[in-house]
Amino acid sequence: MRKPIIAGNWKMHKTVEEAIVLANAIKRDVFDIEDVEIVLCPPFTSLGDVKDVILETNISLGAQNMHWEAEGAKTGEISSKMLKQIGCKYVIIGHSERRAYFGETNQTVNNKVGAALKEGLFPIMCVGEKLEERESGKAFDIISGHIEGGLVNIGPEEILNLVIAYEPVWAIGTGKNATPDQAQEVHKFIRGLLAKKYGKDTSEKIRIQYGGSVKPSNIESLIGEKDIDGALVGGASLKSESFVELVKKSSQVVK
Ligand code: 13P
Repeated sequence: MRKPIIAGNWKMHKTVEEAIVLANAIKRDVFDIEDVEIVLCPPFTSLGDVKDVILETNISLGAQNMHWEAEGAKTGEISSKMLKQIGCKYVIIGHSERRAYFGETNQTVNNKVGAALKEGLFPIMCVGEKLEERESGKAFDIISGHIEGGLVNIGPEEILNLVIAYEPVWAIGTGKNATPDQAQEVHKFIRGLLAKKYGKDTSEKIRIQYGGSVKPSNIESLIGEKDIDGALVGGASLKSESFVELVKKSSQVVK
């Protein structure tokens, strides 16, 4: 059984003060949920304060990015060591916004995944095609490129600490989610790639989240699918009411 994981990617939203308010509201309403893993990924500036709010609760902390080197002359960057020390369990790597606006490639994603795992962090590695790639029939090639390229030299023990997030770029922030069938088709494809690389038993243990316009009205049908193990949520994670509803609805889905 794979435990579903619902992670809120707050992106570049929330000041420290706002982040504390949001984290407290979520904490208050999800304290009794045990069958869903809950992760909050605030901006770097709020990691420490959100960590204090969720200390010794059922909520884990995640960051949205990191550099692959442990330290050095890399102005503006943050390392895995710093994230670990501030209390992160997870780190999102290779989000499509980072690939699109900050030049991230399968190579940098691979460097970061390797460094995160080495530091004992759990990477949430994002993969997914753009609209034109889907429309031209290239979606599966792109996704397998993201998976193969991101997982170079990642071994079978380490891979169990990794979460994959399938986020079709055309579904992010558009209000237009992939249908459960569309998402399941890709998740099954990804699990097949993982089975080829790591064996079937291992592939069955790896969690694959869906991301892209997830909201309380579509979460149940999405995570009701066999290979969809939770969600990486943008917009709907910025309000406690909708995020809490997502968590609670996920906890009620029995597969
Ligand atoms: P939305 O939920 O706002 O579509 O964003 C998804 C996302 O990019 C999460 O990482």
